[in-house]
Amino acid sequence: MKSELVAGESILLVDRKQRAYLRRLERGRRLSVRGGTILCDDLIDRAEGRVVRSSLNEPFLVLRPTLAQLIPQLPRRAQVIYPKDIGLILVWADIYPGARVVEAGAGPGALTLALLRAVGPEGEVVSYEVREDFAEMARANVERFHGKAANWKLKVADAALHLDEREVDRILLDLPEPWSLTERAWQSLRSGGLLLSFVPTVLQVKNTVDSLRAHGGYACIETLEALLRPWHVQGLSVRPEHRMVAHTGFLTLARKIQRGE
Ligand SMILES: C[S@@+](CC[C@H](N)C(=O)[O-])C[C@H]1O[C@@H](n2cnc3c(N)ncnc32)[C@H](O)[C@@H]1O
Repeated sequence: MKSELVAGESILLVDRKQRAYLRRLERGRRLSVRGGTILCDDLIDRAEGRVVRSSLNEPFLVLRPTLAQLIPQLPRRAQVIYPKDIGLILVWADIYPGARVVEAGAGPGALTLALLRAVGPEGEVVSYEVREDFAEMARANVERFHGKAANWKLKVADAALHLDEREVDRILLDLPEPWSLTERAWQSLRSGGLLLSFVPTVLQVKNTVDSLRAHGGYACIETLEALLRPWHVQGLSVRPEHRMVAHTGFLTLARKIQRGE
């Protein structure tokens, strides 16, 4: 990727207090930020990593957002999976270039964006979302922040009733009752494939694990959570930040095996 910014891209304007404002570059447009304005034409075709001044003479650092910076700012009406969990999911669910992945519970599409990036153009992502309005949000976010993706299919359907893909490498469930998909997910996965569920409460974890164990077609079942503690590093003040996101959810993982083995 080149450093020069192009029209249509999203950028962050970072102020002196490290507050980041997500904006989109469009030719001829004026961006409003903290009461002042910045001309898009002064940013397009010029490198990210520069400081620009708004009409109020306030300096802003111009950067493309990383996925971790983008996700908390995604337009949304449903909870997204936080970057700390998405990082863990990509490695523990072993999402690799070329993988065939199904996710259920697309919501605003935060995980979808990470999956599309991880599977690459050779891979394939199918997302289920039961609510049309949330599916529309996922569509808009993927188009805006990933771009057109020929290898992405969004199905507006209840995954517990309609998930019907076959020979899938990975299935990721981010919905309230993952245990309602235990059998369907098993039918969809290839042998050796991996199922991951993400739920916020321990009762949901227990139901999920009990259901996977009782099924007989899953092995290597494990549950974990990620705690991420940011640090404040300024002069001699080097310490954990006073605030952190203490709880998001639990990951449960399982591998599909031949039933009963
Ligand atoms: C927490 S949100 C998903 C967030 C998303 N994974 C992200 O990272 O942006 C859960 C979503 O699951 C959807 N959902 C719940 N039950 C479902 C089902 N049975 N089939 C498909 N989608 C479902 C809800 O409508 C909601 O949008």
